[in-house]
Amino acid sequence: MSLNVELLEQSFDKVKPRANEFAASFYENLFKAHPEVKPLFAKTDMGNQEKKLLNSLVLVVENLRNPEALGPVLNALGGRHVSYGAIPKYYGPVGEALLLTFEQYLAEDWTPEVKKAWLNAYKAIATLMLKGAGVDAPTKVKSEIAANSKQQAATQPIEQKIEEIPQVEPAEQILT
Ligand code: HEM
Repeated sequence: MSLNVELLEQSFDKVKPRANEFAASFYENLFKAHPEVKPLFAKTDMGNQEKKLLNSLVLVVENLRNPEALGPVLNALGGRHVSYGAIPKYYGPVGEALLLTFEQYLAEDWTPEVKKAWLNAYKAIATLMLKGAGVDAPTKVKSEIAANSKQQAATQPIEQKIEEIPQVEPAEQILT
């Protein structure tokens, strides 16, 4: 599997002018759909956290053409997430909230191709982070991405079948 770098870059550029708002909406979406992850952020300065999340997304998108640099950074980020309480089953909800936020901000530009590109990118990111957290194949991360939007499901029934993110492909293969 290879990542659709151009689509990822183009779509990310479109949300950049509203980056701060985007990050706030992401956490809003995450906490609304999955209040169980809220306690993990109990002591977190959310303004600061929103900036950190954005920086990490910028770093990922800017290095999509340079995956060998991305691997170690995301492994390390995943390693740090163990101490944040980010257990593997939370990676699905986070991906779901991220995709829903892109859908809200990209509106008509949220095409099936763009959705697929971000789904693949998130799978690659989660795989690399989980690898750094010591979670290797064949652990499965449950994902409800498909269920996050009735409209999406209606326009893209194939996505309904994606219920799990299988952690079976070496991350290097996904990113190159
Ligand atoms: C694509 C996946 C993710 C990305 C890019 C990401 C990004 C980040 C970044 C950049 C930080 C700042 C601290 C650091 O650099 O170590 C952070 C902190 C944190 N993340 Fe994530 N994260 C992801 C997934 C998750 C998941 C699945 C959870 C679980 C709910 C989670 C929960 C947290 C928490 C609790 C913190 C600590 C906040 C604090 O410092 O108080 N993250 N994340």
